[in-house]
Amino acid sequence: MTAQAHEGNGTGSDYEAPHLNGHFPAEEEQAQERLQDRVQPPRYAQIIGWGYQVPERVVTNHDLEQVVDTQDEWIRTRTGIQERRVVAAPQETSATLGTEAARKALEVADLHPGRVDLIICATSSPEHLFPSTASIIQDNLGIINAGAFDLSAACSGFVYALSIARGQILAGDAEYVLVIGAETLSRMVDWTDRTTCVLFGDGAGAVLLAASDVPGGVTASVLGSDGSGAELLTIPAGGSAAPASLETVSSGSHYIRMDGRAVFRFATRIMAAATRQVLDKAGIPVSEVDLVVPHQANKRIIQHSVLRQLKIPEDKVYINVHKYGNTSAASIPIALCEAIEEGKVAPGDNLVFVGFGAGLTWGACAVKWSVPVEKPETTWWTNTQRQATYQAAAARSMWKRAIRRIYSQVEPRAMARRPARKPEEEQPTP
Ligand code: UT7
Repeated sequence: MTAQAHEGNGTGSDYEAPHLNGHFPAEEEQAQERLQDRVQPPRYAQIIGWGYQVPERVVTNHDLEQVVDTQDEWIRTRTGIQERRVVAAPQETSATLGTEAARKALEVADLHPGRVDLIICATSSPEHLFPSTASIIQDNLGIINAGAFDLSAACSGFVYALSIARGQILAGDAEYVLVIGAETLSRMVDWTDRTTCVLFGDGAGAVLLAASDVPGGVTASVLGSDGSGAELLTIPAGGSAAPASLETVSSGSHYIRMDGRAVFRFATRIMAAATRQVLDKAGIPVSEVDLVVPHQANKRIIQHSVLRQLKIPEDKVYINVHKYGNTSAASIPIALCEAIEEGKVAPGDNLVFVGFGAGLTWGACAVKWSVPVEKPETTWWTNTQRQATYQAAAARSMWKRAIRRIYSQVEPRAMARRPARKPEEEQPTP
């Protein structure tokens, strides 16, 4: 009973029986509402769409032998990489790759772009420091009602983004979230540094996460960071600590620098630990894992961590690093898409995504796959409708840009023509 109810008696006596057989309508209503809030059906965050895009240009280890002092044999035995994709045209960027990957994810889910609530783009090679690559993707796809931001957690970025997206959905703040990993690290590597340039590749992968009442989806996540290892893998210049200057460019400080051995040691330890931790959280024994999709940095890291330490058999760990190299935040979603294409994912499967990267950062997500993996059939009509949607989005964006340009030209002229007011004519400020 509230203090107000007591006061409401107005008798001064110790206690008076309330009206309506002891019921207080306002309180009861509130209690009912609270109960309804509590008994709302549980929400789950399901992956309902997926897609990836890689550049067409293939760069093999033999191609690299022409560029730096390296050998195909060294790269294959130390990393497992045979070739990677590299953007060719200047207009091919993290945003264009991310846009295509996201478009494919929307098509698999058969969802109109206008229904997406949030776009998170995990990237270490954004188009600009700002605006975010996610905002550019938002405009490219005409996703008019969505928030959009980039997430910087290096190669762990996709797992971080998935975890945040899950949180948004479980909190009831979003129904559909696009999670994208998009990279063009070929533009960040020093092509004369053999210790890094042979490792990285370009590409993008995306998933569409949706609120659902079907149990499963992304069921647990683990995120971690140890900034004491920040200098082990870094692009030293180009940020506020060392803004771009003639010196930073001439010393090559705007390229990736890495202590490969130290990162290797950290990675083998953390990949196994994070996988174990997320499985504990999800309540799934290691023996019940159907597929691990690890960050594709180096085949040896995968072998030394999830395969050997956790004793997960090789056919339950998806590896495609030989085709794409290390595509950083894009590597897990690209690998997931290929695993689905190869029939390695089925409803009811327990999946783990696990990554590590600069920061140092690490992360893992446990996923109970709960949706069909077949892509919906596309008809001539659905294709035409989709094309029309994207063309309308492009036209809308052009129109908005044109209007802004006109305003920016007309407004200064109008201001200049406005007669200057005498001080006594100025309106008093309210
Ligand atoms: O997403 C996170 C990104 N980073 C990583 O995942 C990197 C993790 N680290 C690694 O994958 C491995 O440490 C590397 C693949 C980078 C290197 O493999 P390693 O077995 O640790 O080699 P190393 O650094 O110990 O170098 C061994 C030798 C060195 O020569 P010396 O000093 O022994 O004479 C290197 O100079 O191999 C040499 N080397 C190369 N030789 C031919 C380094 N890079 C190359 C190269 N071609 N590309």
